[in-house]
Amino acid sequence: MDTLEWMLVTSYLWVKAAHLIFVIFWIAGLFMLPRFYIYHQPVAPGSAEDRLWIERERRLRSIILTPAMIAVWVLGLALIWINQANGSDILSQGWLHAKLAIVLALSGYHGWAVGYGRKMARGYRPAKDTALRLMNEVPGIATAVIVILVIVRPF
Ligand code: HEM
Repeated sequence: MDTLEWMLVTSYLWVKAAHLIFVIFWIAGLFMLPRFYIYHQPVAPGSAEDRLWIERERRLRSIILTPAMIAVWVLGLALIWINQANGSDILSQGWLHAKLAIVLALSGYHGWAVGYGRKMARGYRPAKDTALRLMNEVPGIATAVIVILVIVRPF
């Protein structure tokens, strides 16, 4: 392997490592936010405790969740781009299509969670407790399916 080839392979691995670091931050945030909502839900709107939860949720969104989601997308698309540029056409593979569909859905879930937090901050509690608990399962299931798709590549 010559030096240029070695540098390309190594930088690909660094981009992939960074991708996975931000995947962990993003999913950790997605695990936490609906859990916060379950604790926040019974708190009286306008109370001191309500203000505390609103601030915790805002910080989780703006410091961890949204920056991590953007980084995951940018680095993941960079990985696709590097593969295509090097002639390994991963864009034609079924596992990647399925993964992208699930990641898009997970980004929609992220949007729903952020929107729900804004509603709670305005004093609304539109979802039932059981619905929130069910929604809380979504990131775990999505993570399991995505990891199987990228590691096992069943199709
Ligand atoms: C946001 C859009 C995303 C895009 C465009 C994307 C794209 C990619 C690409 C192209 C690779 C490199 C595959 C290879 O080198 O063979 C990769 C690796 C990986 N991604 Fe993503 N990804 C995204 C989000 C995620 C999410 C949300 C997860 C987990 C929940 C995830 C988990 C992984 C894992 C575990 C690997 C390592 C696979 C390996 O080394 O074989 N990715 N991703």
